[in-house]
Amino acid sequence: MTKPADSLKDFPEPADLQGHGPARVIALCNQKGGVGKTTTSINLGAALAEYGRKVLIVDFDPQGAASVALGVAAREDQPTVYDALMSQAVAVGDIITPSAVPELDVAPANIDLSAAEVQLVGEVARETALARMLRPVLDTYDVVLIDCQPSLGLLTVNALTASHGVIIPLETEYFALRGVALLVETIAKVADRLNPRLKIDGILATMVDLRTLHSREVLARVHEAFGSQVFDTVISRTVKFPDSSVAAEPILTFAPDHPGALSYRRLARELIARGDAA
Ligand SMILES: Nc1ncnc2c1ncn2[C@@H]1O[C@H](COP(=O)(O)OP(=O)(O)OP(=O)(O)O)[C@@H](O)[C@H]1O
Ligand SMILES: [Mg+2]
Repeated sequence: MTKPADSLKDFPEPADLQGHGPARVIALCNQKGGVGKTTTSINLGAALAEYGRKVLIVDFDPQGAASVALGVAAREDQPTVYDALMSQAVAVGDIITPSAVPELDVAPANIDLSAAEVQLVGEVARETALARMLRPVLDTYDVVLIDCQPSLGLLTVNALTASHGVIIPLETEYFALRGVALLVETIAKVADRLNPRLKIDGILATMVDLRTLHSREVLARVHEAFGSQVFDTVISRTVKFPDSSVAAEPILTFAPDHPGALSYRRLARELIARGDAA
């Protein structure tokens, strides 16, 4: 059912692109905390960038974890996603910051973003604020990855409204599937009412430990529930991920030959092979 993460050759080496854009926008979404949304955003982003794709990571979590993990935590005086979202005077281009990884840019966020959830409620077209914010740069990038916060509130609805696809990371543990039905329902509602193009690109099993029966059983249940929607690539549990976060870089540059790095390259290849990224 699952192959070792290093079997990169299961999916073809992505072809070089002739030019860049328009971007396919993908939200990394699960209202459960700590399942690997941010880890997947930055490492899938870095893997796609390695393959020559121009990638923008939108930090859409007031915790600002993606910004910190890529070493672009916003300074106090710097405009962030909050400003670009809420102020006519700040364009997305004003906040985009290059990361240390070539071809990988970040729209950073910090705790300011928590106010947007409340302030947007009173706005006209409050669900489409992020889509409007991103529009000016969609032709510049091949892939935009939105790192969502662990909630199904208005910010996440904005992310889903701005996206073509959703990747749902699931931590491979006993309660993994709890809450996924509500997430799938929310995605279906957004697709029905706000964004008909939206689809689930795939379910990604994270923190897998195939040596344990428990992990294998949970993985089998995830396959039972979601069938072909589950990515063939799984992400193993390894301390290299927290280690690379401390170093403020993706595992792809921190430990490029580690199986964890290979598994995100494999995911990038799988996504491209499925036609869900350029
Ligand atoms: N495959 C993995 N193996 C081991 N640790 C991991 C793995 N993936 C992520 N982690 C660690 O687990 C913690 C949570 O991961 P991450 O921040 O990516 O989850 P998240 O879904 O973005 O969390 P939140 O809901 O708080 O935003 C982090 O400390 C991260 O380094
Ligand atoms: Mg996160």
